[in-house]
Amino acid sequence: MDEKAIRAARGPFAGQAGNLDAPYWQTPAELVGRMLDLAALSPEDRLIDLGCGDGRVVLAAARRGARALGIDLDPQRIAEAEAAARLAGLERLASFRCEDLFETPLAEASVVTLYLLPHVNRLLRERLRRELPAGARVVGHAWPMPDWPPIREEEVDRRRLYLWAVPSA
Ligand SMILES: C[S@@+](CC[C@H](N)C(=O)[O-])C[C@H]1O[C@@H](n2cnc3c(N)ncnc32)[C@H](O)[C@@H]1O
Repeated sequence: MDEKAIRAARGPFAGQAGNLDAPYWQTPAELVGRMLDLAALSPEDRLIDLGCGDGRVVLAAARRGARALGIDLDPQRIAEAEAAARLAGLERLASFRCEDLFETPLAEASVVTLYLLPHVNRLLRERLRRELPAGARVVGHAWPMPDWPPIREEEVDRRRLYLWAVPSA
């Protein structure tokens, strides 16, 4: 099945905005921290969370001093994330855009985080490898990436986390 056919078969997920490629599930707070630890996130990093939900990964990255961008197609999620950033006084480092994650330019990111679905990981894989700079890290919650072995994998509270590194061309 090609990308168009796979994406045409997606959602809608109950009670959520249409045309989503993955439902809204939240990464538990302790796992968010572990994802950033796995990426060895530093204030020099630029993180993008593709499918950011309520912005928890982006806000956690901003709390560590990194610039971070959250992308979500559901306007309600973006409104919640922006409100949380304002409340936490993190607007300088944390920003959000309501857009399709398949349209998001990735070249500026040094860290990308994902909690989507296995087939979405597969659709993103080539773009991640092509557009991200060599050495960029990709951290995934829950799902592997077909045909891209992680450099590290761990289980936390019965949930799996994966770390991939973008190879040099
Ligand atoms: C499983 S949630 C992950 C939320 C957050 N990253 C976390 O770890 O808590 C997936 C998110 O992806 C968003 N999403 C699904 N398809 C999308 C698309 N094509 N473009 C942008 N966001 C999308 C959903 O609205 C949802 O908020």
